Amino acid sequence: MPQTVKGVIARSKGADVELVDVVVPDPGPGEAVVAVQACGVCHTDLHYREGGINDEFPFLLGHEAAGVVEAVGEGVTEVAPGDFVVLNWRAVCGLCRACLKGRPWYCFATHNATQKMTLTDGTELTPALGIGAFVEKTLVAAGQCTRVDPDADAAAVGLLGCGVMAGFGAAVNTGGVGRGDSVAVIGCGGVGNAAIAGANVAGATTIVAVDVDDRKLEQARRFGATHTVNSAQQDPVEAIRELTGGHGADVVVEAVGRPETYEQAFYARDLAGTVVLVGVPTPDKQVTLPMIDVFGRGGSLKSSWYGDCLPSRDFPMLVDLYRQGRFDLDAFVSERVGLGDVEAAFAKMEKGEVLRSVVVLEEAGA
Ligand SMILES: NC(=O)c1ccc[n+]([C@@H]2O[C@H](COP(=O)([O-])OP(=O)(O)OC[C@H]3O[C@@H](n4cnc5c(N)ncnc54)[C@H](O)[C@@H]3O)[C@@H](O)[C@H]2O)c1
Ligand SMILES: [Zn+2]
Ligand SMILES: [Zn+2]
Repeated sequence: MPQTVKGVIARSKGADVELVDVVVPDPGPGEAVVAVQACGVCHTDLHYREGGINDEFPFLLGHEAAGVVEAVGEGVTEVAPGDFVVLNWRAVCGLCRACLKGRPWYCFATHNATQKMTLTDGTELTPALGIGAFVEKTLVAAGQCTRVDPDADAAAVGLLGCGVMAGFGAAVNTGGVGRGDSVAVIGCGGVGNAAIAGANVAGATTIVAVDVDDRKLEQARRFGATHTVNSAQQDPVEAIRELTGGHGADVVVEAVGRPETYEQAFYARDLAGTVVLVGVPTPDKQVTLPMIDVFGRGGSLKSSWYGDCLPSRDFPMLVDLYRQGRFDLDAFVSERVGLGDVEAAFAKMEKGEVLRSVVVLEEAGA
């Protein structure tokens, strides 16, 4: 029997989000219904609301979530009812050319549930990033569920489902940060601070945090930044070079997604260093660089989709590090709010007041 539950939708471009009844079908083959326990409010949800991703309104928002599998469809073997899972937005196919080459984190054919969740009048909803988790229960592809340690706090580990994984992976997976490296991170929101935490866990010895907001720089220290630079007051390229013996950093992570910060990242890295672009630019943005510098400075210019993560490999590992006190996921949780507070959380995010507001749902029957 399909279930009717409460969920948060963006009905039209720019309009305030609404808490409405959402109809969730029973899971079909390869699908799972998950009772959501917590879901972080990410910038991408706001992008959806503002029509910045596509026009497939109404959207069921939310995608950084953890919960408990309630039911699975035919043929599902990877998860079972009762499993505590973090949801991911790149369920890999195992069959595309990237997967067949042994690089499943690049999978070019990731998948979501085939059935649609709807409004009570039958209007189909587009779930944000193929998840849609500001809702009591959601329907996803079973491959979007990654089982993790059930003792972990859902509000904290749900954040692994998007921004925190993207940032951590940008430093560690894409940037390949290792012991003794110098790292600079430009933009210290949820993503950038996770990159700092990743660099710290990987053994980087110099970690320079760059932001235009001193509150963010203060938080960056907590995640392991050894130095901070306010780039509204100081040239970040000069500052990063000074802090790295005059050379620049081995790895620079750009977590803003703007041409000027990309250019800073390009010139703030050492010869043969690596730039990782994890910030997402809007389609109108252009970068112009002297080609001789692209050649002459060597190294690599990379982009990082979802931190080049493999959820089945990376989520349980990060939950272990969290449970051992080596990765402070709790510090990303600025506040816990209800399903009715998403619009207010957007406003706080825009003012830079939070790393993450996390919507926490009451347990069914509690
Ligand atoms: N690649 C991926 O898979 C992936 C996943 C999630 C998010 N993202 C992207 O990562 C970026 C950051 O996301 P977030 O959630 O951390 O956002 P956020 O809004 O929390 O943080 C952005 C930070 O950048 C700082 N900033 C803004 N302009 C700056 C400038 N000129 N110089 C230095 N710092 C500046 C802000 O003060 C803020 O601290 C976004 O573009 C987001 O879309 C990418
Ligand atoms: Zn694939
Ligand atoms: Zn996100």
